[in-house]
Amino acid sequence: MSTDNITIIEPLAGPLDGSTRVPGDKSISHRAILFSAMAEGTTRVSGVLDSDDVRSSIKAVQKLGADVNLTKAIDGSLEGGITGWGSAGPKQPDEPIDCGNSGTTARLLMGVVAPWDIKVTLTGDESLTKRPMRRITAPLMKMGVNFEPAGRETLPITVLGDSSLHPIDYDAPMSSAQLKTAVLLAGLYADGTTTVSEPSPSRNHTELMLPEYGADTTAGYRTASVNGPCQLKACEVLVPGDPSSASFLVCAAVLKPGSNIQIENVSLNTARTGFVRTLERMGANIDTRITGYAGKEAYGIISAAYSPNLLGCEIPAQHIASEIDEIPVLAITAAFAKGITVFRGVGELKVKESNRLQAVIQVLNEIGIDAWEEGEDLFIQGQPGLKVPDGLVIDSRKDHRLAMTWSLLGLCGDKAIGIRDFDAVKVSFPTFRAQFEELVQK
Ligand code: S3P
Repeated sequence: MSTDNITIIEPLAGPLDGSTRVPGDKSISHRAILFSAMAEGTTRVSGVLDSDDVRSSIKAVQKLGADVNLTKAIDGSLEGGITGWGSAGPKQPDEPIDCGNSGTTARLLMGVVAPWDIKVTLTGDESLTKRPMRRITAPLMKMGVNFEPAGRETLPITVLGDSSLHPIDYDAPMSSAQLKTAVLLAGLYADGTTTVSEPSPSRNHTELMLPEYGADTTAGYRTASVNGPCQLKACEVLVPGDPSSASFLVCAAVLKPGSNIQIENVSLNTARTGFVRTLERMGANIDTRITGYAGKEAYGIISAAYSPNLLGCEIPAQHIASEIDEIPVLAITAAFAKGITVFRGVGELKVKESNRLQAVIQVLNEIGIDAWEEGEDLFIQGQPGLKVPDGLVIDSRKDHRLAMTWSLLGLCGDKAIGIRDFDAVKVSFPTFRAQFEELVQK
């Protein structure tokens, strides 16, 4: 392992204390950019996350002809107007669209461009070009879209759009909001009802937001539909704070003696707050309170405090989608709990920005925790009072959520640790470190 690009993470100087806000939700920000680009007219957006991933979506829709006029607001978020291509459709881009590290950009774009007679090549960085795309191309092919090379698993892939798509009723093999969204977006332009059903409920931002843009959408427990053809119309979108970013502050407060924090204005969509329910079941001091709605999205306050008596628990497979991005940070928290924690059915972790299942097991083993995989289940034997070894250096694998997860081992413990390629945090939470400093000084 090379020694370059290591960031030292020092223990926090004191407990986390006081109120804060986290940057805008990444999933809602992507959708606000993409849906506004598809709509007729100018959508006013605010609270949009300014991060590398969201910038990939912004650049992509600009290449396809949307007019994006966003400026930085005082709180660091992006706000302003996005004028979509509407019924004229996206323009033929003159070069491939680079989606960077962003799976959401690449997968949702496939559904965005599918119903138009254009040819769009999508590519991405080293991580994204390894991630599975057949889960999106397979249902889109059933609707009449073609891809080049046919049957390819990974990017770069060229989408050969088709303006005469047919609706489908699709039984998805895995719970994935990216898959569901790509199919529903293509379905907006098919003549009839397009339905996606999934094994357990994935995040539902698409179903909640599309009606704001005038789409005829229905949503059930494990199913969502759109009735096409339908042209989206401009609206107004306010993006609440990202619960996935909040989860790092929350778990740090739970682990760091004396801490007591409140995170305001954060999305409390239950399809995203599985981590709160898991922490509750572990015996953590945590609470939520809804204070308002942005469109149909609930937001409010998460309060969390130091929790010295954490207990292991079992998280059933049907709950995993509601906390899929938080499993690494919950795994670190479980490492300090008494007893075994079992996360059932977490195979999807293997195909995220890195193989997070393998990374979690490897790092927990390295710090002296017994953690293992059986089938698709992750087992962690917690050790309250665990001390990490001296001179610990952990590779983030250039994965933003892993960089933030491992940094909790330094921030909440009593020894500095090193993290290789820590700047991956820019993908979703560029102000991660500053936010901790702010809460320690309050
Ligand atoms: C996302 C859905 C999830 C999640 C990702 C964002 C979205 O992925 O892990 O970070 O915005 O739709 P899958 O749809 O692949 O589960």
